[in-house]
Amino acid sequence: MADEKNDENIVSEAQIAVHWKEEEYFEPNTKFIAQANLTDPDILEKFGEKNFPECYKDYADLLTWDKYWGTTLDTSDPPHWKWFVGGKLNASYNCIDRHLAKYKNKTAIHFVPEPEDEPIVHMTYQELYNKVNEFAAVLRDYCGLKKGDTVTLHMPMIPELAITMLACARLGVIHSQVFSGFSGKACADRIVDAKSKFLITADSYYRGGKLLDHKEKADIACGRAEEEGQHVEKVLIWQRYPGKYSAATPLVEGRDVFINDILKDYRNVKVKPVSLDSTDTLFLMYTSGTTGKPKGAQHSIGGYMSYVTGTSKYIQDIHPEDVYWCMADIGWITGHSYIIYGPLALAASSVIFEGVPTHPDAGRPWRVAEELDVNIFHTSPTAIRALRRVGPDEPAKYNYHFKHMTTVGEPIEPNVWRWYYNTVGKKEAVIVDTWWQTETGGFLCSTVPGLHKMKPGSTGPGVPGIYPEILDDDGNPLPKGCGKAGNIVIRNPWPGLMMTIWGDDERFKNVYFARYNKDPESKDWHDWPYFAGDGAVEAPDGYFRILGRIDDVINVAGHRLGTKELESAGLMVDEVGEAAVVPVADPIKGKVPHIFVSLKPGIEPTEALKKKISDTLASEIGPIAKPGRVWIVPDMPKTRSGKIMRRVLGAIAAGKDAGDVTTLANPEIVEEIKKLY
Ligand code: WTA
Repeated sequence: MADEKNDENIVSEAQIAVHWKEEEYFEPNTKFIAQANLTDPDILEKFGEKNFPECYKDYADLLTWDKYWGTTLDTSDPPHWKWFVGGKLNASYNCIDRHLAKYKNKTAIHFVPEPEDEPIVHMTYQELYNKVNEFAAVLRDYCGLKKGDTVTLHMPMIPELAITMLACARLGVIHSQVFSGFSGKACADRIVDAKSKFLITADSYYRGGKLLDHKEKADIACGRAEEEGQHVEKVLIWQRYPGKYSAATPLVEGRDVFINDILKDYRNVKVKPVSLDSTDTLFLMYTSGTTGKPKGAQHSIGGYMSYVTGTSKYIQDIHPEDVYWCMADIGWITGHSYIIYGPLALAASSVIFEGVPTHPDAGRPWRVAEELDVNIFHTSPTAIRALRRVGPDEPAKYNYHFKHMTTVGEPIEPNVWRWYYNTVGKKEAVIVDTWWQTETGGFLCSTVPGLHKMKPGSTGPGVPGIYPEILDDDGNPLPKGCGKAGNIVIRNPWPGLMMTIWGDDERFKNVYFARYNKDPESKDWHDWPYFAGDGAVEAPDGYFRILGRIDDVINVAGHRLGTKELESAGLMVDEVGEAAVVPVADPIKGKVPHIFVSLKPGIEPTEALKKKISDTLASEIGPIAKPGRVWIVPDMPKTRSGKIMRRVLGAIAAGKDAGDVTTLANPEIVEEIKKLY
């Protein structure tokens, strides 16, 4: 059945690909090249297949190891690849302690609160060191947490999130940060899966001009987790304004505590970073997949840290003197890898921005860039589209200069790319379009900014050490330039790849490797291509163009939402009999979900019911899941085996021809649904 679905999609993706015109190249400017970390074309040779896996020693050597590793890559238990085996290190030490001698008075984190009249906080490496140590002492001595324990974080974009992650890392406690925009219910699912006994949250944060009560979500999360058998012993609460409680929700006696109250007892306490195995777990990051339950991508310490540090240095071109601003949320993988771990390992100054980029107006990001003299900027096509729509002329009004800009998370349309290049980057900044995933830890495809030409809309070739390939359904490689789309795979292991899915090795194998594995017994990595789940085409120049997901995942504003997860939220509304969710193109967000529902017998379709369904999706999953439209239909188009034909619904929602419907069990329904358009 899965194949049947993929076929449908690949046909349509391929059609798109055929109609694509090749874009012209843009050259990186000489000023950028003169200072770039990587300009020697020999690197491509050095990271080529004949030097694999030893090439990755270069990345590992960017870190400070307590004990150097013996084996670069251990392939004894495919596809759980183990990197730098025998090595010992600590991520918190690598992001903080080792910089103190040279950089203790340098800003580690610029925290930009959303309200513009609140001052920007400039936290030095020394201050970050002190705060991380004190909070690590709280985790260890007050909570009794130790290496290998899991803790769920549900924190907004405040510097305490960085402090919390790095304090966990200092002890070897596995953090699992849940995007703050997610609901209490979504947080509960992740608490249950991770088996966390502790939840670390914040009372409130600013979003779009409002101070939101965030603590209320903790109550929902703990309640729902309890129902599913996971007891949360303690909720640790950071205060947005230390010493003041900014939420209306009361504290639960014995469970809820303000971190600022406990910290007083740990003033200036230092916690020695625990020396951990390279293959110990640094964190979990949940991501949506083809079935309802989100998957906890389990990332290692040694491999992950090496990979994000290497790619931050060479693809983000970060130097210690740079002011680097990635506008993603730390609740997604981009924020973990490219706000916290990569940039801080390189001793850069990293910006944490609390708010909405277009609030109070579309000039905000450029004012921040001007004030902090940001020179590296990183964001998503969704944010770029939104900023272009409401403030196309804003960047020119501000005196900032980027040397480098990144786009990530979804395909960028060439005309949006051009606005980013011409207007935001003022024709001075290079752009990298980085394609990767929660599971992959760091970039997979991108141009090397000091070496390669840019091509709007194309991510570029595999980054050094990554060997991508496009395969057809039977596993045959599609030659570059053939104009046909297929499934993009990575032929080789790399250090940033997650070690497994938390608690589910089988699912890890099935989702990412089973599709193209040549022999399940094989210990040779060549037999285990990594299946990314994206459709792509490879141009004659070896640049890849990503077409989007081929499974049941919708990419909304650069974030993956599982259609099954959305559908089961829709089914929680009593009146709903059946639900199907499809992605529909949206000029700002890339894709938005439309939900089709059929009602239980005797229920009348009303506007109020549509609103109830829409609100349920937002409250169950988060505002990001709010459907673009709720369609109440008399019945679902179905195959003879009873499968809902989402392809047909998707076409109707987009106002397109539904194609051949003669194989349906109820073809007449298609015309009826079309009338609702
Ligand atoms: C999509 C985000 C086109 C893709 C880092 C992938 C992209 C999914 C790009 C992963 C890009 C990410 N061009 N599509 N530059 N980057 N994607 O796990 O479909 O939140 O599989 O990781 O986003 O989303 P995730």
